[in-house]
Amino acid sequence: MDMQGTALIRNASMDDVETLAALEEASFSGDRVSRRSFRYLLSRGKSLTLLDALAGNTRGYLTLLFRAKRARVYTIATAAAWRGHGVAAQLVRAAEQAALARGCTALYLEVRKDNVASIALFAGNGYRVFGEYEAYYDDGMDAWRMEKTLPE
Ligand SMILES: CC(C)(COP(=O)(O)OP(=O)(O)OC[C@H]1O[C@@H](n2cnc3c(N)ncnc32)[C@H](O)[C@@H]1OP(=O)(O)O)[C@@H](O)C(=O)NCCC(=O)NCCS
Repeated sequence: MDMQGTALIRNASMDDVETLAALEEASFSGDRVSRRSFRYLLSRGKSLTLLDALAGNTRGYLTLLFRAKRARVYTIATAAAWRGHGVAAQLVRAAEQAALARGCTALYLEVRKDNVASIALFAGNGYRVFGEYEAYYDDGMDAWRMEKTLPE
């Protein structure tokens, strides 16, 4: 079933820390954002976590870090049961709107070179590779650096 258009994307709060940490744990095998980090990020003004919750089911989330005029996609994941339904694509679009509203001109991120789904997600939404980091992840995997200049 195509769930596009029925997403409920809202700003996460401290009440969502357990949910976010559990989804992060289930979504990544290493280099995870810890419960403590989510707590810290949700308590400071220079970051924003968007949560997609449909009828109480948390389907996905995306955390942005604001760095002057650029915003970094720090983490993004869709719950396994909801993958392939456009949840991440909608979160990326919502993040771009939020970044624009904060006066940012670009979004950027790092992604594992073996993360086919995420590379396709961002490439398909207009992000381009502008660099790389060698052995960026715990297991030695390299990262692509991707970015998108936001339309005015
Ligand atoms: C990457 C991830 C966030 C995508 O979430 P999703 O909600 O399933 O993605 P969407 O349904 O919005 O798909 C958007 C686009 O991503 C790409 N994509 C998504 N899943 C894909 C897959 N398994 N293989 C290839 N491309 C894929 C496609 O280009 C897709 O567009 P299309 O539907 O028009 O073909 C999800 O797979 C995930 O949570 N993975 C584990 C955590 C992770 O790797 N996060 C990224 C860290 S940088």
